[in-house]
Amino acid sequence: MADITQSVSIDTEGGIAVITVDNPPVNALSWHVRQGIFDGLVQASANGAQAVVLLCAGRTFIAGADISEFGGNVPASASLADVQGVMEHATIPVIAAIHGTALGGGLEVALAAHYRVGLMSSRYGLPEVNIGLLPGAGGTQRLPRLIGVPKALEAMTSGRHMPAAEAKADGLIDELVDGDVAALRVAAVAFAERAVADELPLIKVRDRNDKVEGVDPQVFSDFRKKIARKTRGFLAPEYNIRCIEAAVSLPFDEGLQVEATLFRDLMSGPQSAAQRYYFFAERAANKIPDIAQDTPTIDVHRAGVLGAGTMGGGIAMNFANVGIPVTIVEVSDEALERGLGVVRKNYERSASRGSIPAEAVEERMALITGSTDKQDFADCDIVIEAVFEDMDLKKQIFAELDQICKPGAIMASNTSALDVNEIASATTRPEWVIGMHFFSPANVMKLLENVRGDKSNDTVVASTMAIGKQIGKVCAMVGVCRGFVGNRMLAMRGAEAERMLMEGATPAQIDSVLYDFGFPMGPFSMSDLAGLDIGWKAEKSSSSTIREVLCESGRRGQKNGRGYYTYDAETRAATPDPEVEQLIRDFAEARGHQQREVTDQEILERLLYPMVNEGAKILEEGIAIRGSDIDVVWVNGYGWPMYRGGPMHWADAVGLGEIVDKIKSYGDRLGGAHWTPSPLLERLAADGGSLAGHQP
Ligand code: 3HC
Ligand code: NAI
Repeated sequence: MADITQSVSIDTEGGIAVITVDNPPVNALSWHVRQGIFDGLVQASANGAQAVVLLCAGRTFIAGADISEFGGNVPASASLADVQGVMEHATIPVIAAIHGTALGGGLEVALAAHYRVGLMSSRYGLPEVNIGLLPGAGGTQRLPRLIGVPKALEAMTSGRHMPAAEAKADGLIDELVDGDVAALRVAAVAFAERAVADELPLIKVRDRNDKVEGVDPQVFSDFRKKIARKTRGFLAPEYNIRCIEAAVSLPFDEGLQVEATLFRDLMSGPQSAAQRYYFFAERAANKIPDIAQDTPTIDVHRAGVLGAGTMGGGIAMNFANVGIPVTIVEVSDEALERGLGVVRKNYERSASRGSIPAEAVEERMALITGSTDKQDFADCDIVIEAVFEDMDLKKQIFAELDQICKPGAIMASNTSALDVNEIASATTRPEWVIGMHFFSPANVMKLLENVRGDKSNDTVVASTMAIGKQIGKVCAMVGVCRGFVGNRMLAMRGAEAERMLMEGATPAQIDSVLYDFGFPMGPFSMSDLAGLDIGWKAEKSSSSTIREVLCESGRRGQKNGRGYYTYDAETRAATPDPEVEQLIRDFAEARGHQQREVTDQEILERLLYPMVNEGAKILEEGIAIRGSDIDVVWVNGYGWPMYRGGPMHWADAVGLGEIVDKIKSYGDRLGGAHWTPSPLLERLAADGGSLAGHQP
């Protein structure tokens, strides 16, 4: 085998040249990969090869362009279009042999080959949309030519990885191969020999027009309507659609020009910058600087969950979903039955929507064993406590778990704000205790905020991250403080929202400012959804907050159709309620507040700047490992729009100097600790530093 560049080599088998890419970890199309494939193809032709097979070493076929090269200084080399040109126009057959995932630019390279052969386990996708882009190497023009417009629309706007069987059925690949990478090489070389012997045509996908002709434009408008809600605010899905429209309405080369123009627009805009930043942020969050990457982790053969309420049931589902048996313990048979009933209903709803197969309902329920005896946790490798948010109760429970759990089991609390160190102190083995803060609904929300106690040992820390990944969560490891990262920052936003109600803003105005910013809903819609009476007790209510007053007047939120808003009984659509607005005005006036017009700009600044400030304080205290972890928490746990990167990235984009100035001026006017700029924020603003890039 001869090296062409540092990551590409060539060898021959009979008359077939095999070009191998080896650029760990995911064979991204770095400059030396592009140059290597280009030179390899030229060399193969020059040396009289009869055909070429392109394959990859390691865990996957090419997973796309090298995202870390975007916007950076890269040595001059062959472009992706150069590589594709020499493949597509080669006068000998070029066969792409695919294992793992062929994604983005990787799939686009494969689409420039004359044939594609893939392992049964391989997957295919154009996921550029997830980093705020569109496929910029002809994928928008070639994919619809192979799989048709409706499927291409769905694939490119979702970024979904299509399984090999589907890819074969849709005509994206030509042959499926069973086995491993060695078998793939054998099959691809055999395919190449057949292509030579049978003089198979050198198919250029660009010339295939049958699936892009005569397409009804209604397909596009219908599709736009279908994805409108899910993609609200994002530019890239719409740009992807426009490219497919161009594939239908223009000749191939003109379609390519449309693709190039729209690609450049996205690449130079703030959304893709935020989404690309976020791609790396999410991966960085998995790394904990003082924990070695190879720290042994605990294999979970059985998990335990204490409490089958709102959170416990959802937490248990996460384990059952990946085939891990769970023991769930409640105080009574009645509570257990109610909790398991909700879990079953959730699974049945998923099955009826088609998101899980019908038989999965019983399979998953069979993995969940209910009990009213904590002794049943004795064989669990991890127990997650999800009982009421009460320190005394949690301490009592952890003291009991200490007696029951086997040595080396993780004892975790799902507390949303309490001191994990204090909980751990109730045991004789605080090093095995940690917080695992799931978000509601726990079976749906992606975020897992793991909370490292002062004494949590390395195995526990590494294991909770690994377990989180295993159950499909996006994890961030944070330190102990009231509310941890997410809820601590949320409290700042909530306090200002309440304050602005007193000054004259309405719930609908405040909610709509956040909705327009890109959040799925604002704080008052959120309260109505969760229930206004959470933690409220009629006998203790003293009309001291707007929320208490609303509860006292029988408003419970969405569940009884009346909260900050009034809800339509059938559609559940929310309408601002003049009665509530009057009630707020009366409440404010009785406390001497002058009502005034509050602008949308002021609302936005007052909701978000104190959060940024709190984020800086969290970083200063070392509660978050790095600024970007805070963004991972907010994007996955609180609906911060990904195209704005997260509060730290957004603050950098707004300008830290501007934010410090505003915080000071609001502080002069309004007072309050959250309007005192954090020293870190002031320092970074003065030095031109970055919050997102900050690592204490
Ligand atoms: N460029 C640079 N680095 C990449 C990369 C890429 N395209 N894809 C993955 N990586 C890096 C990750 O940052 C990570 O690095 P780290 O170990 O230092 O943190 C490492 O590769 C492993 O990645 P994952 O942790 O994500 O590994 P998984 O096994 O979980 O997933 C994957 C593998 C499915 C390939 C996933 O990494 C992925 O989805 N990658 C992005 C694919 C993508 O978006 N491709 C399109 C790129 S844009 C493009 O091609 C433009 C073109 O149209 C012109
Ligand atoms: P919940 O009230 O819905 O459920 C608590 C369950 O625990 C009840 O079913 C109760 O019967 C059971 N329970 C109480 N004492 C028990 C005991 N000694 N043994 C066994 N079971 C017992 O409460 P929810 O909302 O599920 O909250 C649980 C924990 O999760 C709390 O610490 C909360 O702060 C936290 N949390 C809640 C979130 C939410 O949105 N509801 C989000 C994230 C964390």
